[in-house]
Amino acid sequence: MLDPVSWKLDSGRVIRAFEPDIDDYRGKLRIIDQTLLPEQLEYIETCDVKEVYACIKRLAVRGAPAIGCAAALGLAAGAFRVVTADKEKFLNTVKGFADELASSRPTAVNLFWALNRCTAKLCASAADDGSVDTLKIILLHEALDILAEDINMCRTIGEYGLSLLREGAGILTHCNAGALATGDYGTALSPMYAAHERGMKFTVYSDETRPLLQGSRLTAWELSQVGIDVVSICDNMAAQVMKEGKIDLVIVGSDRIAANGDAANKIGTYGVAVLAKYHHIPFYVAAPYSTVDITLEHGGLIPIEQRDGDEIRRGFGKLTAPEKVKVYNPAFDVTPHELISGIITERGILTPPFSHKLKEIIKS
Ligand code: MRU
Repeated sequence: MLDPVSWKLDSGRVIRAFEPDIDDYRGKLRIIDQTLLPEQLEYIETCDVKEVYACIKRLAVRGAPAIGCAAALGLAAGAFRVVTADKEKFLNTVKGFADELASSRPTAVNLFWALNRCTAKLCASAADDGSVDTLKIILLHEALDILAEDINMCRTIGEYGLSLLREGAGILTHCNAGALATGDYGTALSPMYAAHERGMKFTVYSDETRPLLQGSRLTAWELSQVGIDVVSICDNMAAQVMKEGKIDLVIVGSDRIAANGDAANKIGTYGVAVLAKYHHIPFYVAAPYSTVDITLEHGGLIPIEQRDGDEIRRGFGKLTAPEKVKVYNPAFDVTPHELISGIITERGILTPPFSHKLKEIIKS
């Protein structure tokens, strides 16, 4: 389980998107409001399930592993505040909280994975002799275990991914799969943090990632915080930057990987993968095993979140399209496995064909 003391000591190393409040060690959460970055760094403090739900829905906390961890911690926080000694009543209330949190966003499977893991643990423990108070502690420990595993996962992905980086390399990434999207160094950005810690010099090209600009607002911000050389580009510049020979490698995160290796990630990722193929640039997806959804045969079955048209019509409050124009705003796309050179997981780098290897890492 996560040790609160070492967490506190460690917390200066990387920005924490969210954290359990150490002084109120009952699942209270501090969440960076990422919608305000990079202009303002502000935290939301909450122990309320509805508020955690709203934070996930409006992307105050976002990124597949981060929403799984935040939902688990939010569930534990909510459970602590349920006043009843009746175990069945308690279980039903907590399951209701889990359903509510699960309805916040549909694509990232880590959300469902983390909530299912918490409720399964709770149901299994409810059969034992313990009281409701004991169940509350068990749930909190499960949520903290998920976070602790996420931290280890990030570091291990970083170590595996490091082998792909070279001195002076140009690396393109899309959206934000860094510290702000996980419990620690991120997935796609973790190899870059690992290389930076070893004194390697390289340049990260960060697609701005329309319409919500996670690339320019978040990736460029968090990398520049630690002194990594980062260049922000508009999404439509990626082809030209590749043609100019500036990119040696693409690494992106993922929200859900189907059994055949097709990977859903932020809208625009598929286009980047096509461009990488054309320019003979290796394209890697970095993701933990909790992102793999072995129940879905292929990426066409991954549910894609559709977001409010005003994100396109009114980019950050300003009219950026005719007020009433029809818009189409899918938040994710699916990169076919044929375009993926490898999947960097915490259990090693998988190379194609993926199907069998993905099944194996889920089992192990
Ligand atoms: O809509 P968002 O900002 O939650 O989308 C995030 C992404 O697409 C990330 O690349 C993905 O979750 C991987 S995070 C390690």
